Amino acid sequence: MTSFRTLDDVDVKGKRVLLRVDLNVPMEEGRVTDATRIERILPTINELASKGAKVILLSHFGRPKGQRVDEESLRHVLPALEHHLKRKVAFADDCVGDAAAAVIDAMRDGDVALLENTRFHKGEEKNDPSFIDEVARNGDLFVNDAFSAAHRAHATTTGLAAKLPAIAGRTMQAELEALESGLTSPARPVMAIVGGAKVSTKLELLGNLVAKVDYLVIGGGMANTFLAAQGKAVGKSLCEHDLAGTARDILEKAKAANCTVVLPIDATVAQKFEAHAPSHIVSVDHVGAEDMILDVGPKTVAHVESLLAKCKTLVWNGPFGAFELPPFDEGTNAVAQTAARLTVEGKLLSVAGGGDTVAALNQAHAGQEFSYVSTAGGAFLEWLEGKALPGVAALQG
Ligand code: 3PG
Ligand code: MG
Repeated sequence: MTSFRTLDDVDVKGKRVLLRVDLNVPMEEGRVTDATRIERILPTINELASKGAKVILLSHFGRPKGQRVDEESLRHVLPALEHHLKRKVAFADDCVGDAAAAVIDAMRDGDVALLENTRFHKGEEKNDPSFIDEVARNGDLFVNDAFSAAHRAHATTTGLAAKLPAIAGRTMQAELEALESGLTSPARPVMAIVGGAKVSTKLELLGNLVAKVDYLVIGGGMANTFLAAQGKAVGKSLCEHDLAGTARDILEKAKAANCTVVLPIDATVAQKFEAHAPSHIVSVDHVGAEDMILDVGPKTVAHVESLLAKCKTLVWNGPFGAFELPPFDEGTNAVAQTAARLTVEGKLLSVAGGGDTVAALNQAHAGQEFSYVSTAGGAFLEWLEGKALPGVAALQG
């Protein structure tokens, strides 16, 4: 186990603890649709509060790129946080300056406060020294409980760790321990399922995955890019046509590495991106000009399930379809339930990660049965590739 300090190693009583959490939660119409990330940070918050720390929560939310964007205000997450914590949480309209100082000065030992989205400042993503100073001014200790943001070298992930005594929170600790025992030397064959809409960011990760896994199953919007790269019509589907060359390179690389890439054979298509939109199933060779691919079809599901039955390890990131819009959750639900059953039967070690993945697995009532569900997305995949995560490395410095 790599070395970092945990909450066992410090006295936090009376200290202002800057606790980096990941409150980048999925929301719809102002409501948190999956609270797993909130649930995961409760132990650290409660432990710090009960030990008499002033617990000051720092988080990013969305990608506002240094601008104040009301939709990406953490104020919208506050009610869910208070609900799960079962206590009042003070809110500061800014993570630095007078607004933050006023809230923090008013805190008593054991209180919890949430500061506004760190990404409202450009200095966060730039890991800017003067921004780090401004944030650090409000704390005596830095505790990082955001494994899922550890792939970012930002002010509140790595910057603060160099500035203040830095400690891993309980969730960071648990996450590192679980991933280390689950993924360091996986039992083979290994299947990776990679789906979701973040197409361009994941294509490069796929290139690395093909060297590590035996089966790479591609779903979600990303699959359309691969289908298009093979010359298939994808109609109005989400697709990055300009990445066709990259997609073809990945397929070549997979072949050379003996990795079988599994793409959809059939798809559920609709002409409207909405729940219960009229839909039908087509072969991926017959997607109409007006059609949008919104899920994989039953033949694809059956094929993936038959391969999964041969595998000993599954790593899953990203849903197959638009799982938030029924019936386009069916492919994801079916494969998730099969993976859950194989796990319960002791035939499969199943590890899943990604905010959307967690939500999709929970919706399929399968998350509880998986061996381990990480709330990390990009950090999860980078860890899988064996990359050093700056946020983790900073805790070990
Ligand atoms: C995530 O949701 O993957 C993390 O919160 C990190 O967010 P980011 O990809 O916008 O850095
Ligand atoms: Mg991400």
